[in-house]
Amino acid sequence: MSDKVNVYINSKRYQAIKGEPLLNVARRNRVDIPALCYEESLKPYGACRLCLVDVKEGAKKGLTTSCTLACSEGLSVVTDTDEIKKHRKVLFELYLSQAPSSEKIKDMAARYGVFATRFELKHQENDKLNSKCVLCGLCVRTCNEIMAAGVINFIGRGHNTKINTPYFESSDVCLGCRACLEVCPTKAITIEDRSNIRIMASWSNTEVELKKCAVCGKYYAPERLDEKVDSLFYYKDKDEKLKDMCPECRKKYAAKKHTLIVKGEAEKYAK
Ligand code: SF4
Ligand code: FES
Repeated sequence: MSDKVNVYINSKRYQAIKGEPLLNVARRNRVDIPALCYEESLKPYGACRLCLVDVKEGAKKGLTTSCTLACSEGLSVVTDTDEIKKHRKVLFELYLSQAPSSEKIKDMAARYGVFATRFELKHQENDKLNSKCVLCGLCVRTCNEIMAAGVINFIGRGHNTKINTPYFESSDVCLGCRACLEVCPTKAITIEDRSNIRIMASWSNTEVELKKCAVCGKYYAPERLDEKVDSLFYYKDKDEKLKDMCPECRKKYAAKKHTLIVKGEAEKYAK
């Protein structure tokens, strides 16, 4: 039985995989639905509420979040009704107050004609997330569910909720992988590399040691991350030399090795 289904977004038909979030289909087909807390590699969470659509045909009619809406045959939604716009406008006002320094939020809000907020600005002195965090939770979930590191979490409640390390203490389990920074939709997180140290400035200034490439001498990856990757993956034709090289030197070494193997001079590549 095929797992393909037909869904309709604003009356236009699209193919989808049965059960996949409708937001995926919209993104694949460049249908603009604003969203802050969705990342394909994580289970939908439905926290930001921006991705609302109105279900016209489907199991449950009415407003719902498209990141948690599973595709089924004949599902039909509209993405931009007056009611949806009204909801999004209020949400953008809330996000403008929550993350007053975020250019991304300002841009998203402007597209809905929202340029100011009636809510109190949450500008905080010395905010480690630069007054840009919307508490979408993507960094926390990526750190916990994908990297299995568990370095950061939500701290406090309500208006005082923050994201950081437990007790705001520097972490001795942080891998320094930067995955949190990559997923953050508002670029709230600060990480700096200074010579052989990566400083996770947003996460209580946690310091992570970087590894030096044995060939070119460049610092290229956190030691702890490198060890973790090594312990998780087993390469069949493991060449120990590759272990201590940066990606660029690895590529050059692998290309040279391949050429020598093709020429029948494989014994030379060890030199
Ligand atoms: S730091 Fe970024 S990813 Fe983490 S909760 Fe805030 S906005 Fe979301
Ligand atoms: S992306 Fe759907 S609720 Fe945030």
